[in-house]
Amino acid sequence: MDPMNEMTPVTEAATDPKPAKAVPALPDAQTVTEVKHWTDRLFSFKVARPASLRFRSGEFVMIGLMNDPDPKTGKVKPLLRAYSIASPSWDEEMEFYSIKVQDGPLTSRLQHIKVGDEIILRPKPVGTLVHDALIPGKRIWFFATGTGFAPFASLLREPETYEKFDEVIITHTCREAGELTYGRELIESLKTDELLNEVIGEGFWKKIKYYPTTTREESAKMGRITDLMRSGEAFADLGVPPLNPESDRAMICGNLAFNLELKDLFENTYGLEEGANSKPAHFVVEKAFLD
Ligand code: A2P
Repeated sequence: MDPMNEMTPVTEAATDPKPAKAVPALPDAQTVTEVKHWTDRLFSFKVARPASLRFRSGEFVMIGLMNDPDPKTGKVKPLLRAYSIASPSWDEEMEFYSIKVQDGPLTSRLQHIKVGDEIILRPKPVGTLVHDALIPGKRIWFFATGTGFAPFASLLREPETYEKFDEVIITHTCREAGELTYGRELIESLKTDELLNEVIGEGFWKKIKYYPTTTREESAKMGRITDLMRSGEAFADLGVPPLNPESDRAMICGNLAFNLELKDLFENTYGLEEGANSKPAHFVVEKAFLD
């Protein structure tokens, strides 16, 4: 049997020597343990983690639901999308942060999940937003738009981030102020998280500089991060010099236009080189999930 298909949740295995729960009806099914709605367009949820599933903070998996039966054949197929894992690699639960698209094939249904429901989680994590794809440096930048914050919610709780870097800068650009709440609350919670302060090191969160901006609603800082970097305003606000290949490393996760614009800025203005798992370098890019 392929050990990657063992679907025993870690928590059950740890606490109950003879699990009495029914075998899940779906292939690769996982039970939802928490759902939080952040805005009418955004929600997050957690599922139990399969005991055998190992991943690197920043990676994504395919998750989804079963489609309705095909009217002709009666066959039922899974409907899956790539989702960044928003929880760190050591956590016993797996967290996801999602957009709600009213006519989106998956998220129009996924947004209605409740605690105790089952979703499909294919246990094959992959991705480029991992520490292995970057060479050592002094400062790491995480650049996100919208739900592109998810892999950084994982990496901000990953000990390696603080072992490898002296400074951690997270920028998050959203249309409206309410879309920043998930990220802001997560970063705020790091300060009082006893487990993280013990695991990563007391006061680890002092290395973080958080730079949220909005583009279509008034907030403390308005504008696209790309424009704020080009004008130099972002660097002045943060009190750091522009990115350079000696000291700076970066991970990008946002919409396609944002990813391309930042990649161009990095390569042609700051002289950074794109890395990969097979060839670590200065920065890595991944598209945020949209449905
Ligand atoms: P804007 O409102 O100016 O389009 P979306 O919800 O469309 O994915 O966008 C999320 C955020 O990313 C918005 O604040 C949007 O700004 C911003 N954004 C979109 N494209 C770019 C880009 N090419 N560079 C920087 N920010 C961008």
